[in-house]
Amino acid sequence: MAAHGMVSERTLDIVPLSAVMGAEIRGIDLSRPIDDAIFTRILDAFHRHLLLCFPGQHLTEVQHVAFSRRFGDLQIHVLEQYRHPVHPEIYVLSNVDPKTGKTTGRHPDRGTLVWHSDLSFQRRPALATLLYGIDVPRTGGDTLFANMYAAYEALPEATKRRIAGLRGAHDLDYSRQRAGAPPMTEQQRRETPTVDHPIVRTHPETGRKLLYISHHICRIEGLPIDAGAALLDELMAHATDKRFVYHHRWRRGDVVIWDNRCTMHCATPYDATEERRVMHRTVVKGDVPV
Ligand code: OGA
Ligand code: MN
Repeated sequence: MAAHGMVSERTLDIVPLSAVMGAEIRGIDLSRPIDDAIFTRILDAFHRHLLLCFPGQHLTEVQHVAFSRRFGDLQIHVLEQYRHPVHPEIYVLSNVDPKTGKTTGRHPDRGTLVWHSDLSFQRRPALATLLYGIDVPRTGGDTLFANMYAAYEALPEATKRRIAGLRGAHDLDYSRQRAGAPPMTEQQRRETPTVDHPIVRTHPETGRKLLYISHHICRIEGLPIDAGAALLDELMAHATDKRFVYHHRWRRGDVVIWDNRCTMHCATPYDATEERRVMHRTVVKGDVPV
């Protein structure tokens, strides 16, 4: 063990998860403080692999929040019904009733079942999301991730020219209604006015261009609604083609962190009566996309 119970550099073992993106980091216990040298290596791996999985973790809420804070300030979600009662930075995605301990039979958030980038409906969308699998189903309840650098780079040159400079208008209420989630309150709607972002974005750390789209987009600015919707469908179909997608099958204790600036994700369904799925999520605030 390293001095002062810190995680030491020689224990870090980075193994790619797929050819598309993602790496698993073994031999690290996220419940303990991590020194700056090792955190720098984690951050570097995060920028290179877009997604990191730390298997076999046992975290308290405080430890989950503390590790998340290493990446930046945390977002408290506008949908207060998902906030952890004691730790509001934690968004609880669970089909288990805390009072009875039984499954509810309901998917906790249908808004996760469509391809999106977290908080793209905000002026400053999410930099990263850390999702901790506390209880995971035997089948279903996977998460798919799309590499949006690769999706952009593979577009025909004519399409790249056609979309350069276009901006998408993102709206949470529109997106949730379309995904079949319950309506938002008036107050929540007021807190999430429609915002627009470029659909071709440059990553602030890597300087690479990428396609920045999301189910939260309700229209493309300057295009008739139908033309915008058709363009989005075309880009969405392209970006979620399996050659750009990494499929994560959860094991209990996985902590997965992904870069929302250059990936999209969606959850796959599961049997919410027979299976238990309890996930804790934190979100790191990002910059205004450029
Ligand atoms: C999220 C999300 C996917 C999942 O937490 O932002 O979209 O698989 N979750 O639960
Ligand atoms: Mn999400």
